[in-house]
Amino acid sequence: PKSKVAVFVGSSRPGSINRKFAKALGKLGAAKLDFQLVEVDDLPFFDPERENNVPASVQRMKEAVAASDAVLFVTPEYNRGVPAVLKNALDWGTRPWGTNVWDGKLASVTGTSPGVIGTAVAQHQMRTMLTAVGALVLGQPEVYLAYKPELIDEDGNITDEQTATFLQSYLDKLALFAGRLSVRDAQRQT
Ligand code: FNR
Repeated sequence: PKSKVAVFVGSSRPGSINRKFAKALGKLGAAKLDFQLVEVDDLPFFDPERENNVPASVQRMKEAVAASDAVLFVTPEYNRGVPAVLKNALDWGTRPWGTNVWDGKLASVTGTSPGVIGTAVAQHQMRTMLTAVGALVLGQPEVYLAYKPELIDEDGNITDEQTATFLQSYLDKLALFAGRLSVRDAQRQT
């Protein structure tokens, strides 16, 4: 069976290049991976006083992660940092105590920006935080995509052959580890 990937995009802008990139990755990896986009812009700001009666949006987000074999963060970079919506989702996912959904979950991080370093700084912040909450962060390949409008066509295809081949190898690796760490396997063993 295909591995389920819960995909978090750190931008809800209709024209978001990260959303476009996430969709292109989903299409490229469709033979092995089933991408499910998790919306994060309806999550309230994290508040520890609400954590024992979590909003439905938070519950939905946590269930989506729990049901997935891996999580993928496709992050923009704002002012050399991670967008607040992703940090917010990360914090909610750890609470209340004892219900941390990230613990032991395979996590991968990528992102795109028009700048030449293609969200490298934001991605590394995300990796640091994911490690801290117990996720198993896929270290390689690193994908820092310097976005050009012609790179992804209207149907969500990567137009540059070399880039597509590289991204395919990234998705293959994600699929390999997602399969090994599959939620279905974990359930079978318990
Ligand atoms: C940016 N952008 C940006 N890009 C980058 O590579 N590093 C950065 O630190 C920043 N900082 C930044 C701050 C602010 C306030 C804005 C509005 C933009 C550019 C950013 O990559 C670009 O707007 C992307 O299009 C944002 O991603 P989405 O929303 O298209 O997915």
